[in-house]
Amino acid sequence: MGVIHRSLDMAKQIVSVVLKPGDTAVDATVGNGRDTVFLARLVGERGRVWAFDIQQQALAAAAKLLEKEGLASRVTLIHRGHEDLARYVDDNVGAVMFNLGYLPGGDRSLVTRPDTTLLALEAALLKLRPGGVVTVVIYRGHSGGKEEEESLLGFCSKLNQASYTVMHYRMLNQINDPPSLLAIEKLIQEV
Ligand SMILES: C[S@@+](CC[C@H](N)C(=O)[O-])C[C@H]1O[C@@H](n2cnc3c(N)ncnc32)[C@H](O)[C@@H]1O
Repeated sequence: MGVIHRSLDMAKQIVSVVLKPGDTAVDATVGNGRDTVFLARLVGERGRVWAFDIQQQALAAAAKLLEKEGLASRVTLIHRGHEDLARYVDDNVGAVMFNLGYLPGGDRSLVTRPDTTLLALEAALLKLRPGGVVTVVIYRGHSGGKEEEESLLGFCSKLNQASYTVMHYRMLNQINDPPSLLAIEKLIQEV
């Protein structure tokens, strides 16, 4: 393995620097729950992870995994779209992870969508504490994936640079169009 990481691993590297024991984190796309487990370990026993997915199948798989890992008590699994994030999550969030697209091994027509992803991203940015981060792993291969990436990049490129630092990370020489990573760090609380 080299020093240049895949997008999801790079997202995890960034989040692991930011999240501290006792923090609050959000998994905006639970899927099979691997990122939820990652976040639950980082926030520790006194921390909390709020975790959203629209598919009961995904939440059931995640619940099983969290139980097996002894982490279930730190996580609130929510059967709602991430666009409802603001109704559940308090302020001062340390990190929000999005892993877009469809559930691996599940129904490929149930994908994240540009309009709801953007609503969720806006809500997530408001909930972040200064120093907190949002990471978004973006897939272009499925139907609507390219449009989703374009709308996210358009929105993020207009964020005020005094309030946010935005990075877009992508491989340039790989044939299978691997996912890219958007990472946003909040610098100051906007008033
Ligand atoms: C690529 S998977 C996530 C993978 C996951 N992070 C893991 O570690 O296994 C994307 C997930 O987003 C979910 N999803 C789609 N639209 C959503 C929405 N509006 N809100 C929350 N989750 C959504 C899908 O059901 C799917 O499970």
